[in-house]
Amino acid sequence: MTSDRTRGNKSSEVHGIFQKIAGYYDRMNFLMTLGRHEKWCREVAARVAPAGGGRFLDLATGTGVIALAVARRNPGATVTGVDFSEEMLRRARTKPGADAVRWQHGDAADLPFEDESFDGITEGYLLRNVEDLDRVLREQHRVLKPGGRLVILETCPPSGLVKPVVKWGLRVIVPLLGQVVARDRRSYTYLESSTRAFESPQSIAGALSGLGFTDIGWRKKFFATNVILWATKAN
Ligand SMILES: C[S@@+](CC[C@H](N)C(=O)[O-])C[C@H]1O[C@@H](n2cnc3c(N)ncnc32)[C@H](O)[C@@H]1O
Repeated sequence: MTSDRTRGNKSSEVHGIFQKIAGYYDRMNFLMTLGRHEKWCREVAARVAPAGGGRFLDLATGTGVIALAVARRNPGATVTGVDFSEEMLRRARTKPGADAVRWQHGDAADLPFEDESFDGITEGYLLRNVEDLDRVLREQHRVLKPGGRLVILETCPPSGLVKPVVKWGLRVIVPLLGQVVARDRRSYTYLESSTRAFESPQSIAGALSGLGFTDIGWRKKFFATNVILWATKAN
């Protein structure tokens, strides 16, 4: 298991940020997505978990919005929410319906699960925060059963006609909201830089395909600032 001592620089920085902003996370997300985040999480849940049981893993579960949506949608399922921030998990555990989910401390780069353990994996805003994208995706491929579904919610680097407006929003509005709501401008400045520098959906799809995922697709959301991607582990 990755510990504070063995984490790389980026991981330590990300861990520190989420430990600090956990109490403001849901409110900030609501404001930054104008209330759309919960709806996207429900769509992620619908794409990964048709009713009828099974084992599901929500990585980087944070305050648990996706894990809780999966558990609500599929009450017969076993849902595990994993995060490396104890503070984010502490918030998740207090939410209505939290007893239906197993909350577990863990690092997405070194998952504490056997090979082929899960019927489906979800994750919201994990990939742009990790140090080694290939390793994190390989871990997901390893713990997913053949035929299992992976559904990813991520931010998109700004592109197209709205690029200047989105860049301005990320550079000016998001840190300002961070300052006013969370009294923490620096953490939300990181969000701007990590989103701008992150891979496009095409590039994530290429990495998934290289690992042996098939049926890959995605849908952009909210002026292409966010994206939901899905893929299936080949049988
Ligand atoms: C932006 S939050 C997303 C929370 C939730 N998925 C959502 O959609 O609201 C990102 C989460 O990823 C977690 N995280 C980042 N890197 C991680 C890693 N390597 N292993 C486990 N969790 C990680 C952070 O602690 C944080 O809770």
